[in-house]
Amino acid sequence: MSEALCEQTRQEVAIQSETGVEYAGQPQLLERHMDIPSSRWHLAIERRRSRRHFDPNLPLAPEILTALDKVCNQFVPFTHARSSLVTDSADSVFKGIIGSYGKVKDAPAFIAFIGDMDDPFVQEKVGYTGEGIILEATALGLNTCWVGGFFRSHIVASLIEVRNKERVLAITPVGYARESESWQERLMTGFARSHNRVALSELARGLPGEEWSDWVNPSLEAARLAPSATNRQPWGFDVQDDGITVFVRTRGPEFSVSKRLDCGIAMLHLEVAALDSGCKGKWEFLPSPQVAKFKTRS
Ligand SMILES: Cc1cc2nc3c(=O)[nH]c(=O)nc-3n(C[C@H](O)[C@H](O)[C@H](O)COP(=O)(O)O)c2cc1C
Repeated sequence: MSEALCEQTRQEVAIQSETGVEYAGQPQLLERHMDIPSSRWHLAIERRRSRRHFDPNLPLAPEILTALDKVCNQFVPFTHARSSLVTDSADSVFKGIIGSYGKVKDAPAFIAFIGDMDDPFVQEKVGYTGEGIILEATALGLNTCWVGGFFRSHIVASLIEVRNKERVLAITPVGYARESESWQERLMTGFARSHNRVALSELARGLPGEEWSDWVNPSLEAARLAPSATNRQPWGFDVQDDGITVFVRTRGPEFSVSKRLDCGIAMLHLEVAALDSGCKGKWEFLPSPQVAKFKTRS
């Protein structure tokens, strides 16, 4: 795809993305109240690492809490997915994998990522939305860690309003991590081989690399850095001349966290880097095993 084409479609897509996201020709109303700060979040993608043990001597300043609350309220790109900041009882909601192993400790606050389970695309919407909050927290100098399975959902539900069809799909602690990783954190990082990422050559299919336009490589590199449960990196990318389709590449059990939620996180990384390279698009949600297509022209 030529740069000129992306340039030409940018205007069309900008108009379409005002009106919504399509699924099977049915536009869903977008409720995004803020634009993605692409350079800021692109830098955050490179800096972010999961941290689980926080410094109890470093509370969150009121202006930081205000900034977190604001992004939770304003980064609402889809109906049926939202985020809620909680500054109470953070430690009581985290469980360890075995006893206290892997447990989040001394977090001054947490954020809950909530979805309406009647929406067929709830998992990817929550992943995409939640990662926006995580990247903004990272940009604010905070540390985070997606937690999908190991939290006490009844305690979370007692601290926030969870509506009829809604479920808290994941949470993250927010705070300042202890300067050096504790041995339990190092154990968790090693257990999940957290810093390893699958090579792009194994993730991408479709158009050969020499035919990719300039925005494709940085976008896929950013998507590749996305966090995923147990670092399983379930995503694959099909590069076409009118965009990129994200699909679930891996087989095997999901355990308690949907692979489509991981893919939603990768979708946001992909879009942040595409925007930072000057390429706008819109998402079209797709049935399994595909997840969604980032369309750069209609
Ligand atoms: C949806 C999701 C759920 C996760 N659940 C947990 C969890 O329950 N406990 C935990 O310690 N880490 C959890 N993680 C963190 C991953 O282990 C971590 O993101 C991965 O190993 C990659 O490491 P990184 O985030 O430092 O890049 C989760 C991550 C994601 C995206």
